Amino acid sequence: MDYKTYIAAHLPDLGLPSEEIAAAIAVPPDSSLGDYALPCFKFAKLLRKSPALIAEELASSYETDAVIGEVAAAGGYLNFKVNRKRLAEETLARVGKEGARYGSSDMGRGKTICIDYSSVNIAKPFHIGHLSTTALGSALYRIFGFLGYHVVGINHLGDYGTQFGKLISAYKRWGNREEVEKGGIHAVNDLYVRFNNEATEEMEAEAREYFRLIESGDREANELFDWFKELTLSYVKKIYDRLHVTFDSYAGERFYTDKMQPVVEELREKGLLVESRGAQIVDLEQYGMPPCLILRSDGASLYATRDLAAAIYRKNTYDFDKCLYVVAYQQNLHFKQVFQVLELMGKEWAKDMVHVAYGMVSLEDGAMSTRKGKVVWLEEVISRCVEKALSIITEKNPDLENKEDVAEKVGVGAVMFGALYNNKIKDIVFSYDKALNFDGETSVYVQYTCARASSVLAKAREAGIRYENAPPSEVNGPEFELLKAIAEFPATVVLAAKNYEPSCIARFAVDTAQKFNKFYIESKIMGAETEELRAYRLRLTDAARTVLTVALGLLGIGIPEKM
Ligand code: ARG
Repeated sequence: MDYKTYIAAHLPDLGLPSEEIAAAIAVPPDSSLGDYALPCFKFAKLLRKSPALIAEELASSYETDAVIGEVAAAGGYLNFKVNRKRLAEETLARVGKEGARYGSSDMGRGKTICIDYSSVNIAKPFHIGHLSTTALGSALYRIFGFLGYHVVGINHLGDYGTQFGKLISAYKRWGNREEVEKGGIHAVNDLYVRFNNEATEEMEAEAREYFRLIESGDREANELFDWFKELTLSYVKKIYDRLHVTFDSYAGERFYTDKMQPVVEELREKGLLVESRGAQIVDLEQYGMPPCLILRSDGASLYATRDLAAAIYRKNTYDFDKCLYVVAYQQNLHFKQVFQVLELMGKEWAKDMVHVAYGMVSLEDGAMSTRKGKVVWLEEVISRCVEKALSIITEKNPDLENKEDVAEKVGVGAVMFGALYNNKIKDIVFSYDKALNFDGETSVYVQYTCARASSVLAKAREAGIRYENAPPSEVNGPEFELLKAIAEFPATVVLAAKNYEPSCIARFAVDTAQKFNKFYIESKIMGAETEELRAYRLRLTDAARTVLTVALGLLGIGIPEKM
């Protein structure tokens, strides 16, 4: 049990669930007053007492024990001091025992979570707009897996719609096999962009006809479509490999072609389908939303129709406890509508659908533009970041071995971390220089800290020093601040999962790295006054490296041994 939960469980009833109390407990930046603090302001109204009085009463009734050694009231705060030796011993023992699994649990055992993320569009650019969904989704995938959930990662490919008719039309006009084979997705995208730039009424009609041919199973049209799809997938899979992102299913929109009719029928049977100017809709006016379009007047299905079919399919196939959609906030209304329609259909599990919305990513130089053909491909951003990382590393440490590998870890990490460090709903502006700042709130700062720890530990190993079971002989100052941070990790992982907020872990990593560096600078590790102290500090160094490695690992970021 973590300390906050422990404290919450030992407080009298305050009119709030103990989970909420635990979440309200803070770790003050300066531990001279206390290691943990409960602000009592939020209980004042309920208990009809001043926060100061509540804190005082709680302080006098709280029974200290071997875990919490001291409790005191100060202003409206209730401050707790832990038994430091015990915290140190327990934390180090747990990290030592669990290693790379430190912070994991089985709280999700028997539960399934579907996560829809990245969900790229076939034959369209995999652009920087897909960075957040890819980074957030894959981080949540790992975090929930780490907590024992069965996780199903789904790439809901955008592989349906008239754009494929356009593509075929463009290819037939201007394309040839050799060029497309050579240029891959870029060549395909060029064709598509050219079509949009030059489209006439007649071409649009032709495109619709080609799409109809795909739909009706025409062989040539489907062969071309499959070819474009393959080109796109082999391209994006290379990027996924680079980012260490995986999926369990690539069932995209087209997969639901034959699964929409039953949904339409069910809607009709349940009296939810209304005709409106030839189209079939579900009226959502009483929920303050525009209608959800199900079938166009020409009978064609829509994005929402496929999402309804997909939701039902996922429930039937995976029997999920939660189904997450990691999709930009621009689609807030779409998901509200889809979830509402499911509820109206009487799906009691509609409450388990969650739209995990996030903000926009743009580049510092304003290069993110949705104008025709002017998009920033994610691949470019990654490559540029890796290149920049390589030049920084070469300058800092010209003799480093495997510079390319290190640069890959640093550059890819910087891109991912850039998308994960802030609260997900915030719009972010990606800056190469900021993302690669060795002293900033960055992944490279954390990676560098780990490399620093590794180098101390390597020296100890060379000198034949054993420290694995060294008892904590000094539990004040920077050692203790670091230990306390490490002790918070398991609760941080749970918080990240509960709030669908990997940034909790990213912030934890930076904060813990900062605490390690303070310790590293202020306390001599190899040069400690006594052997006992040296062994203990090494053990602490090892624990810090472990927890930082686990934290970045959950975000999909690797750590070089040397930097
Ligand atoms: N392909 C869509 C886009 O790029 C995202 C799909 C999200 N998932 C879903 N089930 N609607 O906007």
